[in-house]
Amino acid sequence: DTSTPEQAMETAVTDKFALAFDIDGVLIRGGTVIPEAIEAMKTLNGQNEYGIKVPYIFVTNGGGKTEQERCVQLSKQLQQEVSPGQFICGHTPMREMAERYHTVLVVGGEGEKCRQVAEGYGFKDVVTPGDIIKDNADTTPFRRLTNEEFRNSRARNFGETEIDAIFVFADSRDWAADQQIILDLLMSKNGRLGTRSENFDEGPPVFFSHNDVVWSASHDLTRIGMGALRVSLEAMFKAVTGKELQTTAFGKPQLGTFEFATRLLQQWRKDTHAIDSPPETVYFVGDTPESDIRGTNEYNETSDNNWYSILVRTGVYQEGTEPRFQPKATVDNVLGAVKHAMALEA
Ligand code: G3P
Ligand code: MG
Repeated sequence: DTSTPEQAMETAVTDKFALAFDIDGVLIRGGTVIPEAIEAMKTLNGQNEYGIKVPYIFVTNGGGKTEQERCVQLSKQLQQEVSPGQFICGHTPMREMAERYHTVLVVGGEGEKCRQVAEGYGFKDVVTPGDIIKDNADTTPFRRLTNEEFRNSRARNFGETEIDAIFVFADSRDWAADQQIILDLLMSKNGRLGTRSENFDEGPPVFFSHNDVVWSASHDLTRIGMGALRVSLEAMFKAVTGKELQTTAFGKPQLGTFEFATRLLQQWRKDTHAIDSPPETVYFVGDTPESDIRGTNEYNETSDNNWYSILVRTGVYQEGTEPRFQPKATVDNVLGAVKHAMALEA
């Protein structure tokens, strides 16, 4: 080692604590980086008065592309390298369902992106709403495929196909068509399109990659998200069939996502910083009380891990309102959150 004591000081990595960041409303808004995010990352990477580096991960409910692709994009936005080893998005845990369901309908996202993500997760037979419309254009009376969509879609006889599960990977680009197709499957016998179950209890299960009713995009006010589609679908199923629909959501605030994040952080600290013990505290920085703060607080209370919730004012949470779930601290932005955590640890 040829570094001077000062340099060695600068690069010392703390094993005491770590941070986890939400993305939309904390680091990014509508595809644009929140300016303080760049300085927040530099601070954690060693540009701070304490002369330490702090390990961190990213836990977003968003999705729609591969983890690899998303990290390339995030690296550019944050002007520093972000690796898939420190990144979880809403659909990452769906990977674990690839063994259980063979033929699956994948909904949401741009073009063929989510089909590619699902195939990358190991799903054997991935169907999209476009495939179904290509097979039978009468499925969606007011929606026609564009030439490109028609080319990319894979026709087959859906009268002979059983769809085992429905996964909403990313935000639907066409609620009406997607909901029609999901509803058809839910009301079918064993996921066979064109059939109707007598009691509407033979359809495939539906999984959403998260449950955010609203999220923080480029508009000044929050925009409706996947959780809104879920509410809408459940209400529509009830209106059409008279029955309750049970659906499942991944992502924050589900404790499974925080367990997943704990394992990811453990592996990340081990692989990149050679730290083999768990951190004493993980500071989670989020903008959505219902997902980020709720999940962090519940995980802190129910697990052996010490997670500390920090709410920022740059996203879903609006100053002057009462958050439904109380954070341990509220700060203006992500840089304030990083400074808060470091000051507590100093
Ligand atoms: O669609 C994404 C959004 O609902 C939330 O993303 O990064 O705030 O968890 P994030
Ligand atoms: Mg957010």
